[in-house]
Amino acid sequence: AATTEVDVSSIAEGQMITVPWQGKPVFILHRNAEQIALAKESDKADLPDPQNDADRVKQDEWLVVLAICTHLGCVPQPVGTSDFGGFLCPCHGSHYDTSGRIRKGPAPRNLEVPYYEFKDDSTLVIG
Ligand code: FES
Repeated sequence: AATTEVDVSSIAEGQMITVPWQGKPVFILHRNAEQIALAKESDKADLPDPQNDADRVKQDEWLVVLAICTHLGCVPQPVGTSDFGGFLCPCHGSHYDTSGRIRKGPAPRNLEVPYYEFKDDSTLVIG
């Protein structure tokens, strides 16, 4: 199917899951207050691919990104593995923050945000 429906009600704050969408892995992170604050603070940082957190999320509590490193396509590791609280790509050391933005390493762009909508409080539809 072109779209993937995900029940996000069981993802605790600070936790994430990986779901497949059109053959690609997607990270769904239920951001806690600290992860949200980190992302908002970083709006002011010197970002390689400048984007505000607000332009990357529909709700502060939820980050939805393709889990495909923009360097050469490896799957980054789960939240909390990078120097910026986000995702570390193990292949060549790209560090993404809690908004999925590239902060350090060879990746040129932020993790891509797929099209998605919340059908209701607990149902996310990707695609
Ligand atoms: Fe991720 Fe190279 S593929 S750093």
